Amino acid sequence: MNKTMKLINNRKSLRQYAEDGVSREQKDSIIQAAMRAPTAGNMMLYTMIEVEDQSLKDRLVVTCDQQPFIAKSPFVLLFLADYQRSFDYFLASDVEGFCQEQGRTLRHPEEGDFLLACCDALIAAQNAVVAAESLGLGSCYIGDIMENYEEHRRMFNLPDYVFPITMLCFGTPPGMYKDQKPQIRFEQEFVHFKDSYRRLDSDDYGRMYAPMIKALTQGIQYKNGARNLGQHTYTRKFDSDFSREMSRSVREALKVWQKGGPP
Ligand SMILES: Cc1cc2nc3c(=O)[nH]c(=O)nc-3n(C[C@H](O)[C@H](O)[C@H](O)COP(=O)(O)O)c2cc1C
Repeated sequence: MNKTMKLINNRKSLRQYAEDGVSREQKDSIIQAAMRAPTAGNMMLYTMIEVEDQSLKDRLVVTCDQQPFIAKSPFVLLFLADYQRSFDYFLASDVEGFCQEQGRTLRHPEEGDFLLACCDALIAAQNAVVAAESLGLGSCYIGDIMENYEEHRRMFNLPDYVFPITMLCFGTPPGMYKDQKPQIRFEQEFVHFKDSYRRLDSDDYGRMYAPMIKALTQGIQYKNGARNLGQHTYTRKFDSDFSREMSRSVREALKVWQKGGPP
């Protein structure tokens, strides 16, 4: 296995940090690596905000579903799906006048543009993860940044066509981190098909989850009356308050993109 493959295969999410911190040079290397990620039409439909202010980090602990390690991370990068910058450039280039001349209606960013900008931001984020790993640092995604859209919008001064799609907390791994095994994944046969999609049956699920059930359920108690891992995951994750809040928040954010114009 080459060095890059080893790095990818050994990566684990990091949620606790050694004292060392992250140097400015390391931060800039990670940001530059994110910027080298593939990007739709080379438009870079994303923006990164480095969250330095401790009071903002402290508030993110709460708005991102009570995750205290966010406040302790020495390097927090917020990844924004951003069509505002490109659309503002169109307006600054007088596309309104251009459309009028041509008898065309000015198109505003819509749902497809939203998803394309999300793709760009997420792909840049994953480059940052791999770059950090190569520098001996660790990272963890915070998906809960998609919650509480209105508050995050106020906190970071976000315009209409900007959505916080993910956040990364970086830091130096403590000594014992390298001894931890990477988390188990499903076998390839369940997530990789050739030419056509295959829906799984209960026999597949039995085989697909067996190793995970063995690894995951050691010492954990199923919650809310659940009798198996499916019921446990449904009630703890899919039908949880944070998932409901995430859907509400994204629905609210999408309103402006679905409107086809400013509110
Ligand atoms: C989109 C996304 C959102 C995530 N959100 C969180 C989060 O809010 N908090 C957290 O501790 N981990 C979060 N994670 C990390 C996952 O829990 C982690 O990747 C998963 O458990 C597998 O572990 P591994 O990264 O160590 O392989 C997120 C990961 C992804 C890809």
